[in-house]
Amino acid sequence: MSDYSASSDHVPAGAMQEISNHPRSLLAMGDLDVHRLGEILTLTQEFRSVLRRPIPKVPALRGKTIANCFFEDSTRTRCSFELAAKRLSADVITLTEKGSSLSKSESLRDTVRTLECMGVDGFVVRHHASGVPARIAAWVDHPVINGGDGAHEHPTQALVDLATLIEKWGSLAGARVLIVGDVAHSRVARSNVTAFTLAGASVSVCAPPTLLPPGIEGWPVTVSEDLDAEIPEADVVYLLRMQQERIVDDPVVPSLCEYARGFGFTEERARYLHSEAVVMHPGPMNRGVEIAASVADLPISLVEKQVSNGVAVRMAVLYLFFAGIP
Ligand code: NCD
Repeated sequence: MSDYSASSDHVPAGAMQEISNHPRSLLAMGDLDVHRLGEILTLTQEFRSVLRRPIPKVPALRGKTIANCFFEDSTRTRCSFELAAKRLSADVITLTEKGSSLSKSESLRDTVRTLECMGVDGFVVRHHASGVPARIAAWVDHPVINGGDGAHEHPTQALVDLATLIEKWGSLAGARVLIVGDVAHSRVARSNVTAFTLAGASVSVCAPPTLLPPGIEGWPVTVSEDLDAEIPEADVVYLLRMQQERIVDDPVVPSLCEYARGFGFTEERARYLHSEAVVMHPGPMNRGVEIAASVADLPISLVEKQVSNGVAVRMAVLYLFFAGIP
């Protein structure tokens, strides 16, 4: 298994120029092979240094226009894509469901085709339904980046998390990642299991059975219900929010309070981590439920680092997928 070292010798020289032959869209983490992942991580490093400059901007996407289509609420992903595009000197238009003609029953197809007719060069799409970015990719002639679709995939969050861990440790080979919480409804869990496994980590998931997806036996993970037994073994504890907006049928836990007792990451539980272990969360956090308010702010928490890395990682993705297109 490859070692995703952050060193620039991991990727052939000239990766910045190697922008032809990329598949057009990034819809799922599985669209990326080892080579492409290496390119993204190397570019992320380069863009991180751009972002430290007094004027944190490069002309790489000057003349390109990106449509940031966020048909579901978002703070981190939407703003970091917008900022990433601006740091690359692209023009950006942001579209949400409210405030667009979607609210007048225009179809999604007509909406995105309309944007394309105006001359946009690519789309970033978030939607509450799984598969929408793939549908849009079939309707338009330009690349589509999945910014999170239903409970399906969130590939750029997985890239952010990989880049954050590689920045800290240099490699994930042999690392043990413990994903805790609402795996059933989490697009982040799906993309991250693929990403962490590809990077050579072993992944365990810990949740009550009602929060595990059907078919989990086919995932490359071990499954447990005993958080206290898992914590001392983990190098990374990755916490997931209860995705209330996707829980439509019967309640999946008796109460949030009871869930927090069994699966919340408290200060008491954090004491059983080994000294190098870290805690991650994709945000938004529900402090006091899956993560204790105080734990989110401890030095072992990489939450703010993940947010900061969001901009450089999305610059790398936008550059790779949009710079080469005519
Ligand atoms: C996640 C999402 O929207 O899938 N957040 C994010 O993009 N950073 C996770 C969540 O909503 O809980």
